Amino acid sequence: MTRTDGSHPETLPASWYTDDDIYQREVNDVWARNWTVVAREDQLVNAGNFVCDEVAGRPVFVVRAKNGELRAFHNVCRHRAGPVLREAAGHCQRLHCSYHGWTYDFDGGLVMAPGFSKGREFDPDDFHLFRVRVESWNGVVWVCLDDETPGLIEWLGDIAEIAKGFPPAADMAFFDEVVIEGAANWKLYGDNGVEFYHGPFVHTALKDAVEPNGAIAAPHENGKFVGFEVKYAQWGEHSPGPGYWILKFPCVLIHFTTFDFNLEQVTPLGPNRVRLRHWFWFPKEDAAERREACGQIVADWRLTMGEDLDICAEVQRNLEAGMYETGRLSPEKEPGTIFYQSLAREALGSG
Ligand code: FES
Ligand SMILES: [Fe+2]
Repeated sequence: MTRTDGSHPETLPASWYTDDDIYQREVNDVWARNWTVVAREDQLVNAGNFVCDEVAGRPVFVVRAKNGELRAFHNVCRHRAGPVLREAAGHCQRLHCSYHGWTYDFDGGLVMAPGFSKGREFDPDDFHLFRVRVESWNGVVWVCLDDETPGLIEWLGDIAEIAKGFPPAADMAFFDEVVIEGAANWKLYGDNGVEFYHGPFVHTALKDAVEPNGAIAAPHENGKFVGFEVKYAQWGEHSPGPGYWILKFPCVLIHFTTFDFNLEQVTPLGPNRVRLRHWFWFPKEDAAERREACGQIVADWRLTMGEDLDICAEVQRNLEAGMYETGRLSPEKEPGTIFYQSLAREALGSG
């Protein structure tokens, strides 16, 4: 029985982290129905700039059109399903399918198909690339595969308001990224990212970065996320002052401080595989003279991400070993995890 009376609720069952069928339901019912980060604005400054990625297992790309707007499409050619773009990111004059050269404009219209002539049996208008919704917020480009999902700002809920209390990414410069993969279910990483209970045990080198009781979890229904107002003691040479840490369901991490902004795209790659891509923005004027200090912050994050992923991978192995079915959560220490797991239950039904 699932306890939700506030005493000590049960965790999600182990099978929710290991089962192929549940994973497939998550891909289709959760990941394909939410907004997903795919690119940064600075990767898409000029017409023809593109970024490819996978969303809910579907290859997609975003491109800057000639009128300055962003467009997103499934990366699937309407001829024989070839990949339109094969590089992870770059620049192109037109969208030129990599298989037989069908050519599309940046609005997805088919403009050239060698060997096909427009006529009674072939109308290029019937072979438009499959569109994907795309929107931008705070320097980050998001896509959504589902037409029924609310717009990005409504979907972000309280996050868009919280962001107004911090410097926008537009006032900063993109500095660096950290990309790592690990052998854990995406929800384990989410469960972990919404509690600081593990901090002193897992992050021993940085355990003093946050003041004692300096991170209290606040569940937000409007936007479906767990937020933490964080009081940082010291981070490297910086005192970043108050910060705000957000883990938004299904799994994107957004972090504001008075000094920097960073965001982590979390991509499930299978029931027990996840990829983290963490982007860092710093104030433009700091990029040169405080390069070393900014680099140290990135290195600290890299360490933290690795420690989190390592412990999650060990939990994953234990869940797969079959002894453990469910545990209990502490409302005092893990209110974020309790809320986050309730969002997973809500999204997937009772399981
Ligand atoms: S699959 Fe794209 S041109 Fe053939
Ligand atoms: Fe952690």
